[in-house]
Amino acid sequence: MHIDGAPVRSCAMPISAVTTVQKIVTIEGLSSDGSHPVQKAWLALDVPQCGYCQAGMIMSAAALLADKPKPTDADIDANVTNICRCGTYNKVRAAIHLAADGLAKS
Ligand code: FES
Repeated sequence: MHIDGAPVRSCAMPISAVTTVQKIVTIEGLSSDGSHPVQKAWLALDVPQCGYCQAGMIMSAAALLADKPKPTDADIDANVTNICRCGTYNKVRAAIHLAADGLAKS
């Protein structure tokens, strides 16, 4: 999820620690119809395997692209540090670049 625009791992954030939040966005709030460039890129490249980590991956990617519209591989490695047991890292990186291209065209 994003708290005030910053990616936060909801699994490690007790609600009691959330006291001065202006805005919380979960993956359901990223877009109502799957039209966010990151969601579209994920579908285009068939990124998920089991799907367990994917909400966090997508939210981290969206936050990165909001901050850096054309991230390098090093930017992705430094900012999208979510763990994927299925090893989708190469597809995640490719999808972020594809989303960045989509954002550049829109
Ligand atoms: S897709 Fe299975 S843990 Fe990432």
